[in-house]
Amino acid sequence: MSKKRALTGVKPTGTFHIGNYLGALKPALGLADQGYEAFYFIANYHAITTMHSKKDLEDLTYSHVASWLAFDSEKKGITLYLQSDVPEIFELSWVLSCFATKGLLERAHAYKDAVAKGDKIISNGLFSYPVLMAADIVVFDADYVPVGKDQKQHVEIARDIVGAFNSEFGEILKAPQPLIKEEVMIIPGIDGEKMSKSYNNIIPVFAEPDEIRKIVARVKTDSSKLEDPKDPNKTLIYNIYKLLASKSETDALKERFLKGGLGWKEAKDILAEMIIKSFEEPRRKYNEILGDKETMKKILNKNAQHARETASKVMTRVRDAIGIVNS
Ligand code: ADP
Ligand code: TRP
Repeated sequence: MSKKRALTGVKPTGTFHIGNYLGALKPALGLADQGYEAFYFIANYHAITTMHSKKDLEDLTYSHVASWLAFDSEKKGITLYLQSDVPEIFELSWVLSCFATKGLLERAHAYKDAVAKGDKIISNGLFSYPVLMAADIVVFDADYVPVGKDQKQHVEIARDIVGAFNSEFGEILKAPQPLIKEEVMIIPGIDGEKMSKSYNNIIPVFAEPDEIRKIVARVKTDSSKLEDPKDPNKTLIYNIYKLLASKSETDALKERFLKGGLGWKEAKDILAEMIIKSFEEPRRKYNEILGDKETMKKILNKNAQHARETASKVMTRVRDAIGIVNS
């Protein structure tokens, strides 16, 4: 039996942070370890629905590629590629757009939010974002799409579009299933809200140690005194620490909080050093890879070829089914 295929995409719109790592990259690496055939990509054309800076898009694209490579995506056999390197996606996107009704797209969250906010200008790109995303997935015959809860509706829209197409042309396209961890971890940021580039509360994974120390020094605490015993579960420091530390390290910090005598300054130092240590090796690799664009391009190029070969099989099936004549 052939392997089940997992596919997911990340928009290169912000600095890669601990929430992205624990909520998205780590679970995706785990699927590859479990034997799924993994196609993971940087959704650079999706990024331009909101980001219109040449420099930011270029820099963040390389930065996201280097992030995956720093966590050994190549060694794990993951096909990491750029969306822009697979033209078949955009060809299928047009075909699917002829099967996606206006009503279906008007129910999409991103569009509804833009309307609710009173945005005066809503581009066709934003409106049809879910169509491009459906093409990203369907052109690879993907079985599973590991995503956060916020993306579930997009995968369901992809299933609806596949259904509309298949009802006219037969079982040509595969309907993907979202893979959502039920206990979806929401990683808190330094202010206690969801860590997100939009809230200015992130801890970047690859920042230099001194920057990490500075950021961690801003983690929210309360007004309890050094000598006071503290309930670890009510402290942000402990809640972030336990996501990265081993069981014995976690237990040791818990005990120190409960006993009293652990001040906020020392607790923050402990957390900062844990973050620095946890990502020491990936940080070294990230910096090395980022400084070597030629190697990155070689890897992307090789992976793009594999991705295109896979995608073109589906596209051939689609062209054939709908009556597109090959010259
Ligand atoms: P951001 O919220 O910083 O804009 P994105 O929306 O670009 O992040 O998310 C990229 C991926 O990282 C998604 O799969 C998302 O579910 C995951 N992710 C982002 N922030 C968190 C968080 N705080 N906790 C868990 N997962 C997160
Ligand atoms: N829309 C996703 C996000 O904002 C990114 C994305 C684009 C994606 N294409 C995809 C995710 C295909 C999964 C599958 O996070």
